[in-house]
Amino acid sequence: MKDDAYTLSRFVGEMRGVVGSSATEDELIARLRPLVQRFAGSGTWRESRQYEVHPQQGFGVHLLQEEPDHSLAVFAVSWRPGGGTPPHDHGDWGIVVGVDGAEKNVFWERIDDRTRPGYAELRKLGEKVFVPGDVVAMPTGTIHSVSNESDRVTLSLHVYGRHLNFAKRSQFDPDKRTEEPFLVRID
Ligand SMILES: [Fe+2]
Repeated sequence: MKDDAYTLSRFVGEMRGVVGSSATEDELIARLRPLVQRFAGSGTWRESRQYEVHPQQGFGVHLLQEEPDHSLAVFAVSWRPGGGTPPHDHGDWGIVVGVDGAEKNVFWERIDDRTRPGYAELRKLGEKVFVPGDVVAMPTGTIHSVSNESDRVTLSLHVYGRHLNFAKRSQFDPDKRTEEPFLVRID
């Protein structure tokens, strides 16, 4: 049964309380994780338009909430079949919960000394397919790439410490060994 009592305003209110009373990012993520999971599984935020993906981008980013300073941003993100992202970080912490369909995450680590602007070497750490209810908890600095290898549009619920386009985050090309800014189109 859907949890229709857990509305966006209630979720955001509880998140503000956690952010204001957590001493470390690890504590914050550990305490937010069950809230994000509960909200993702609730029936209070779903709309059919969240399945619309940007044709060139290959995924659709639908903003549900952000604070006036762009912190605590909540998005519904949809992925077209064959769509995905290059390896990227988030410039802040992030928590993602699968909602509809299976999304493959590949995790990477950066192994260069970060002294050359625009240059980055990555090493693949592993991969996992996330299904509805699964949580991807990403401390600041986590690098991953996401792809939809299924034959239909998938949907996941994303919460970030800062709105994606205000977090100064990077995308990487592991073959060309490049780093550049990663901005997304928001629907
Ligand atoms: Fe990401």
